[in-house]
Amino acid sequence: MQTKTNRSFLKWMGGKGRVIPQLLQYLPKGERLIEPFVGGGNVFINTNYKQYLLADINQDLINVYNRLKAEPQKLISLVDFYFSQNPNYYEARELFNNSSQTNKRAALFIYLNRHCFNGVCRYNKSGQFNVPEGKHKNIYNPTNELMLFSEKLNQIPFSIELLRCDYKNTVNYASNGDVIYCDPPYLPLGGDVSFNGYTPSTFDYNETEQLAYHLYKAVKRGACAVISNHDTSDTRYLFRQFKIYSIQARRSVAANGNREQAKEIIGVLTPDMV
Ligand SMILES: C[S@@+](CC[C@H](N)C(=O)[O-])C[C@H]1O[C@@H](n2cnc3c(N)ncnc32)[C@H](O)[C@@H]1O
Repeated sequence: MQTKTNRSFLKWMGGKGRVIPQLLQYLPKGERLIEPFVGGGNVFINTNYKQYLLADINQDLINVYNRLKAEPQKLISLVDFYFSQNPNYYEARELFNNSSQTNKRAALFIYLNRHCFNGVCRYNKSGQFNVPEGKHKNIYNPTNELMLFSEKLNQIPFSIELLRCDYKNTVNYASNGDVIYCDPPYLPLGGDVSFNGYTPSTFDYNETEQLAYHLYKAVKRGACAVISNHDTSDTRYLFRQFKIYSIQARRSVAANGNREQAKEIIGVLTPDMV
């Protein structure tokens, strides 16, 4: 029997929506789930840990989650307002780039995410969101998904911590009994320089090696670590200390529009292995 998977209100590159049933089998039990690369939050809304530490380097993303946690009705009404006004995409983008008001910026971020090319999130050197408009036949206002997400964020008071920071800081918070799930930007297939649609930084071989090292240290402290990545000889080498499982995944949003199945690894490292 297929279990129902909750969907995030965001379309997010590399979002884990489509592999949730496979992924859940490999997530160990624990009190707290730490997600250093929370992205669209698909793992968060499909799991039932008592506590969460959700982090990402993307400031706008964490602002959306903060607003949705603090003032869900206000944000949802503002999102409804923009969807009903239906401003021209490029005007909405300019409004977003010139706004520092947190609720307005969060609502416009959601509006842009639904209207832009493939849900890509990319900024220019001055930090301006610069993704072109997508070609969509039907644009969907994700009110139900926003409500579900906000309920989950507010389920147990003080049990969910949101951080905007680099993954190294987040992993350093992990201690005995924590479960860390890492879904970083993937290493490119075939060694090409891939388009990284999230932030101005790139997540390359050395950065992935650093991630493996920081996770190893966290597991030495008693945490469990689970990672996702492409299934390549490089990733199998970099995560060689992990127990590696191979899965077939049809990614939800790819920068080049290619949504075909690709082999991915899920790596698991537990304290008894280090
Ligand atoms: C593949 S996505 C995560 C997708 C998420 N699991 C989901 O289901 O939607 C990768 C995330 O890593 C974040 N990221 C990139 N570099 C980072 C860094 N150095 N530290 C923390 N987060 C980073 C990006 O902003 C992006 O949200």
